[in-house]
Amino acid sequence: LADGPLAGKRVLVTSGPTHEPIDPVRYIANRSSGAQGTAIARALSALGAEVVFVTGPADVAPPEGVEVVRVETAQEMLEAVQSALPVEAAVFAAAVADWRVASASTSKMKKTKGGLPVLEFTENPDILATISQMDKGRPALVVGFAAETDDVIDNATAKRTRKGCDWIVANDVSHETGIMGGKDNDITLISQEGAEDWPRMSKEDVARRLAERIAQALT
Ligand code: C5P
Repeated sequence: LADGPLAGKRVLVTSGPTHEPIDPVRYIANRSSGAQGTAIARALSALGAEVVFVTGPADVAPPEGVEVVRVETAQEMLEAVQSALPVEAAVFAAAVADWRVASASTSKMKKTKGGLPVLEFTENPDILATISQMDKGRPALVVGFAAETDDVIDNATAKRTRKGCDWIVANDVSHETGIMGGKDNDITLISQEGAEDWPRMSKEDVARRLAERIAQALT
């Protein structure tokens, strides 16, 4: 049996981008590497938690010793998350696509002379908000992320209230910060108590510190 402050506790982490199909060979994606979510899953596991790791197509390999559920789309991610419940804590580190192509083509779209394709979009489910606002069986602790480029703390604080989660890990992903796809992270932890600025540190250190905070909150 696992040892550590999270022994016997089941937790969920989402990670990576989602891929939203245009046709069988093309998709819409984003620049998430999955590095931060993977580090969080590893850190929670190191504290003894039983981790379900729901991941989109990420650049980095999932951690050892966790239950890995691989998905492609936002809709698949929501279903995988719902199937993994109940959990005591859920960390939503995935960069879920906000939109998907309304009716993805089942055959490869052809290049036609004089005609350009027009894609129509529809909104994806908000997984974090859906789980945060569950009436029954909501995880005791729900943690979301906010990747912002402007007014990071104000936007992330509003996001915490709007989505209904307990904590938001806010970071500045302006191009010049090199955070997205980079090694380090510079975060502010936003809770009901307010905003706590953490020094810039590696994504592994952010993960370890966050896992410790989660362990404290659950005990
Ligand atoms: O609204 P925004 O995309 O900025 O919110 C980011 C947070 O919400 C992240 O925790 C992300 O994993 C989560 N999210 C989600 N499902 C979506 C969009 C975002 O779970 N469709």
